[in-house]
Amino acid sequence: MRKNAFIFTMLMVAFSLSAQYQLPKLAYSYSALEPYIDSATMYIHYNNHHGAYTKNLNDALAKYPELQKKPINELFANMDQIPEDIKTSVRNNGGGYYNHVLFWELLSPASQSLMSPYVEAELKKAFGSLDKFKAEFEKAATTRFGSGWAWLIKEKNGAYRIVSTANQDNTLMSINKAQGHPVLALDVWEHAYYLKYQSKRAEYVKNFWKIVNWKKVEELMKK
Ligand SMILES: [Fe+2]
Repeated sequence: MRKNAFIFTMLMVAFSLSAQYQLPKLAYSYSALEPYIDSATMYIHYNNHHGAYTKNLNDALAKYPELQKKPINELFANMDQIPEDIKTSVRNNGGGYYNHVLFWELLSPASQSLMSPYVEAELKKAFGSLDKFKAEFEKAATTRFGSGWAWLIKEKNGAYRIVSTANQDNTLMSINKAQGHPVLALDVWEHAYYLKYQSKRAEYVKNFWKIVNWKKVEELMKK
């Protein structure tokens, strides 16, 4: 029995070493975003949902070692070159993996959620006022039908734009009409809020403003 357990552990270690994508460590505890995002939702969202996207992405790429070595941005930028048998999986699970890595980084405990003068100036310049920016972002998040994401993106020409995408698509994917690197992201899948908010997505979206990691937003704006 012990020997079997040892072999199993070694196999798991070997698998995790060969798998390129790993669940990132969270910078805060499951309860750190309370009361805006509850710890049960955080636990399930991170371990079960993000965990599954990560595993499924690694499984899809396992038979294409040359794709495994490429940065995920490169896969997204050339979706037409991904083999047909794994294209949907890379789109859904690769998107799910990447989007959630970013999402966790864009959240922070409310006590640390402070907008810097730089971010404030950039948003005011682009949208006229913070209220207008927030209203447009909230609209994108609440009107996305079904599952998806709301984004603030920076386009190649440096302009900021608010868009939403379906499912796990993002604006780095060559299949997406809106193109640009994400600066802010909000997961509006039901799994992100339903335990606490049930059908009140708008309330979840409003509370998002209390736990944005604006330092990360600034870093992405300057990228
Ligand atoms: Fe999610």
